[in-house]
Amino acid sequence: MPDSPAIDHLTQAEAEAELERLAAAMAEADRLYFQHDAPSISDAEYDALKRRNLAIEARFPDLVRADSPSHRVGAAPSEQFAPVAHGAPMLSLDNAFTDEEVDEFATRVRRFLRIDPLIPIAFCAEPKIDGLSANIRYERGVLVQGATRGDGRTGEDITQNLRTLKDIPERLAGEGWPELIEIRGEVYMELAAFAAMNAALEQKGERTYVNPRNSAAGSLRQLDPAITATRPLRFFAYAWGEISAPFATTQMEALGRLESWGFRVNPLSQRVEGAEGLAAVYAAMAKARGALDFDIDGVVFKVDRLDWQDRLGFVGRVPRWAIARKFPPEQAQTTLEGIDIQVGRTGAMTPVARLKAVFVGGATVANVTLHNADEIARKDVRIGDTVIVQRAGDVIPQIAGVIDDEAHKARAPYDFPHICPCPLKTPVVRETTGGGAETVVRRCTGELACPFQKIEHLKHFVSRKAFDIEGLGEKQLTAFYEDGLIHEPADIFTLEERDKASLKKLKDRERAGDLSTKNLFAAIHARRTVPLERFILSLGVRHVGETTALTMARGYGSADAFLKAMDLVAAGDEEAKAELDAMDQVGEAVIEAAADYFGEDHNRRVVQNLYDQLQVLDAAQPKTDTPVAGKTVVFTGTLEKMTRDEAKAQAERLGAKVASSVSKKTDIVVAGPGAGSKLKLAAELGLQTMNEDEWLAFIKPSVP
Ligand code: IVH
Repeated sequence: MPDSPAIDHLTQAEAEAELERLAAAMAEADRLYFQHDAPSISDAEYDALKRRNLAIEARFPDLVRADSPSHRVGAAPSEQFAPVAHGAPMLSLDNAFTDEEVDEFATRVRRFLRIDPLIPIAFCAEPKIDGLSANIRYERGVLVQGATRGDGRTGEDITQNLRTLKDIPERLAGEGWPELIEIRGEVYMELAAFAAMNAALEQKGERTYVNPRNSAAGSLRQLDPAITATRPLRFFAYAWGEISAPFATTQMEALGRLESWGFRVNPLSQRVEGAEGLAAVYAAMAKARGALDFDIDGVVFKVDRLDWQDRLGFVGRVPRWAIARKFPPEQAQTTLEGIDIQVGRTGAMTPVARLKAVFVGGATVANVTLHNADEIARKDVRIGDTVIVQRAGDVIPQIAGVIDDEAHKARAPYDFPHICPCPLKTPVVRETTGGGAETVVRRCTGELACPFQKIEHLKHFVSRKAFDIEGLGEKQLTAFYEDGLIHEPADIFTLEERDKASLKKLKDRERAGDLSTKNLFAAIHARRTVPLERFILSLGVRHVGETTALTMARGYGSADAFLKAMDLVAAGDEEAKAELDAMDQVGEAVIEAAADYFGEDHNRRVVQNLYDQLQVLDAAQPKTDTPVAGKTVVFTGTLEKMTRDEAKAQAERLGAKVASSVSKKTDIVVAGPGAGSKLKLAAELGLQTMNEDEWLAFIKPSVP
């Protein structure tokens, strides 16, 4: 940007105005790019804006705006397309990465169908097109609706856009189509057409697409079908959803019918038998891949006989009758320029490789997680090394290894930091499990005094499962944190009070406005009353997730009882530890984490400050009028009528406490087949035991 003044010479007022201008410009560019798919500026121009914004923010940290583009990760998805429920769910495919895995798949099919080894099973092999799937509904042979896959149950209505594809007939040709049929297949872009389209975009100075798949996706989700019509989109049909009547007996026959009704089906699709056959088709397609004019990322094998497909059915979200044999991930070499350390909410330190940007597997990769110190040691990555980066499709990129050359040998092995990169420079410790064994995690010991953990902790505090304050998302919170308005959770609840006394009112902040500030204060106020389990979860004690928080809330009943017990646990009180240990889902790790957390004065103060601002509701009072009310129950062995979780939830609804281990405090042990030591201990302690049926009969009078 030649006309922009040098950042070093900006006055405070100029910087403020410039940041406002940059925020608006980038918000508009994002909106056009993400929601309208009509890029207004080139990538380079966008990056220049971003860099300038960051540089000004670095010089004037006080001026960072609540809506700063540096806090943004992408515009919200467009809400412009209406939701469409698919007639039958659109599922995905299980993956295989070796011939052996394909073989195991074929064996599973054979076993499931109980087919004699002498009878061959035929498969239909199809290239796995790297595009995006669409569902097109035909009623009486006429296209009535087209949708994206969405989450598999509900997609987006893109009927008008799909109608512009010449490969998608408005009316089915030929005959024999069911009265109702959902046709499924892949929308994609041919490589040459993609390159030409990008070249044209570039010429016009517009933002280009990164790969054919993204380009197809962006083109299909245009709000204006006239734009979609100009994009070189193509469609291969390969499946169907809801149908009013069967129309074929094999996949190969079905593909033939789809073709006769006017669709393109992939010419490489073929019938194949036997392990060698499957391996050979895969090898042939891998070889042909480079010469194809569309991207494929593997081969799909489908059991050819449709009656067998029906019998095989689905497991979870994938069919038992098909598998995708994926091509190996694409690899590239680049330089490891550095290793950054990220500190999470609980102080866990994650090393992230900073790479010289490289294009691999259809995307530019510049940062890759190295997971932990052990992983760095195992791969022996050293700063400056040439590393092999791999990325397949939507998969997270990885460092597959280093080039073990002379230069590598000459470099010093990576020394994981011994102090936290935060200004406190606290020592780093290697985490141990409850039992004392070392884990791979390195942790900063600063806890809530460490600024990195503080902000992550605050983010956790306002997260959906914790306080979930409307209008106070991560972005807003980070801005308040950076402005010094919020340091710890309690500050959220004193914000309004402090704002009244302050000269620089929140409502006068850029874009905040009177109304949104009012709404924010109202939303905060609404959360002053909070259920105990949310309060416990929000504290961010390690290993205390939603389930454990709920168990603890039920176990202690009130916030006072909970805090008192935690103080005792921190002080090493054996009885308090035993009481916690007896709760379901609670083990050594939780006890140790609770002791650490509440034993740290700073944390305890933060909790108290928060508690002073709140009214914490007691846990829902357990029922008192059932035969199991107030009793401690342990389930052991296999349950046959319901799952363990179900049984547990039901017992809790009836006012019982469910524990995972048997102790003197246990009242009833429900033992199914395979019960072992717990049942033995129950007998030794003379506890009441019953089997599943006896238990069900026992609670029956109180079950609604
Ligand atoms: S069949 C129940 N066949 O792969 C199975 N899918 O990983 C339905 N895909 O969402 C899918 N080529 O987008 C099938 N010949 C092909 C395919 C194919 C590409 C995509 C499709 C699907 C994804 C599943």
